Amino acid sequence: MQLGLEGVVAAETSLSHVDGEIGRLILRGHEIEELAGRASFEEVLALLWQGLAEEARDPAVLATALGAARCRAYAIAAPRIDAAEGLAPVEQLRLLLSALPDAETLPHHLLAVAAVPVFVAMLARRATGATSIAPDPALGHAADFLRMLRGAPAEPAEAKALDAYLVTIADHGLNASTFTARIVASTRAGTFSAVAAALCALKGPLHGGAPGPVLDMLDAIGTEANIEPWLAGALDEGERLMGFGHRVYRVRDPRAEVLKKVVTGLRGRANRIRFAEAVEATALRLLAERKRGRRLDTNVEFYTALVLEALQLPRALFTSIFAIGRVAGWTAHILEQERSGRLIRPQSVYVGPLPQAAA
Ligand code: COA
Repeated sequence: MQLGLEGVVAAETSLSHVDGEIGRLILRGHEIEELAGRASFEEVLALLWQGLAEEARDPAVLATALGAARCRAYAIAAPRIDAAEGLAPVEQLRLLLSALPDAETLPHHLLAVAAVPVFVAMLARRATGATSIAPDPALGHAADFLRMLRGAPAEPAEAKALDAYLVTIADHGLNASTFTARIVASTRAGTFSAVAAALCALKGPLHGGAPGPVLDMLDAIGTEANIEPWLAGALDEGERLMGFGHRVYRVRDPRAEVLKKVVTGLRGRANRIRFAEAVEATALRLLAERKRGRRLDTNVEFYTALVLEALQLPRALFTSIFAIGRVAGWTAHILEQERSGRLIRPQSVYVGPLPQAAA
C-alpha cells in the first residue's frame, strides 16, 4: 500500500508525461521547452484537445471560438458576481465556476477554459471598486486577460510572457487537481463540476498556492546577508521552503528553467533575479545538508512567482492565474476520462476498531 498514492498508476493518458528522474515534461509528443514561448496558449489547447473536441481541428477556429466563449462567460457572470462579496479571490473564482449552469448550450470544455480569465479579471476589478471590462474576442487569451484586468492593453512583451507561463503550466500528468477533475468526471457529474472541484484541490499551498508565499519569503529575507540565517531558521522551525521539493521530480523541475528564461526576458528584473538566484542556491544547499534521504530541488512555483511579480499581478491572484493555464489540462483530462467511461473508485484499508462480538 502507498499512502499518498506515490508511484501508483491510476490512469492512462496521451496528454502529458512527467519523468521525475531526469526532469522532463512532454505534452502530446512535444518537449515543454519546444512549446513555451513558441506556441500560443490557444495552439497548446488545440494540441491537448486533439481528437477529443471538435473545435481542436484548427487552432485558428479554436481561438475564435474561445474569444466568443469569453464573451458568453462575461454575460453569465455579470448578474452573479455580487454573491462573491467578502470572499478571498480564489474562493470567489470557486463560487463563479460552481455557478456555471449545466444547461449551457456552448461546449462545456470551451466555456470552462474561456471563463477562468474572465471571472478572475471581473472579480479583481470589483474588489477595487472598478467596473468590469468586457472581453475582446479578437485578442489572444493572455493579452485579453491582462487588458480585462488592468483596463488598458498590455505591452506585447508582457502578453507574450504570460502566454508562455500559461503554456508552461497547461498540463502536468496526474497532479492532485487533475486527478480530482478525472475522479469527478468519472462519476459523469459534468465538466463544470469537475473543473470547480479541481480548483478546490489547486488552492492548497502544497499544490497551486505556493507562488504567493515564495514572494513573501523573498520579501521576509530582504537582504543578501539575511539569506542563510533566515532559511536556516525556517528549516530549524520545521517549515517547508516554498518553491522547493516535488512529489515526482527528483531533479530540477524543467518548468523552473523555462520560466526563469521568461522572466529574464522581461525588462528591469535583473536585481530581483540575482537575489532570487542567491536564495535558490542557499536553499538547495541547506536542503541537501538537512534532508539527506530526499533529493529536493527547485519546483515550478519558484520562478512562477517571479514571472507573475514581473507582470505586476497581485499576489492574491496567483492561484487563480495558475487556474487560467491549468484549466486547459483539466478539460483535456475530463474529455479523455469521459471517453474511458470507467468510474474511479479505489479502496482503503480499514484500521479502525471492529464491532464487539455479541455477548
Ligand atoms: N522544504 C523543506 N523540507 C521539505 C520540503 C521543502 N520545500 N519539501 C519536502 N521537504 C521534506 C519533508 O519535510 C520531509 O522531511 P522529513 O522526512 O524530515 O519529514 C521530506 O522532505 C519528504 O517530504 P514529503 O512530504 O515526502 O515530500 P512530498 O514529495 O510528499 O512533497 C511537496 C512534495 C511539493 C508537497 C513538498 O515538497 C512541499 O511541501 N514543498 C513546498 C510547497 C511547494 O513548493 N509546493 C509547490 C509544489 S509544485
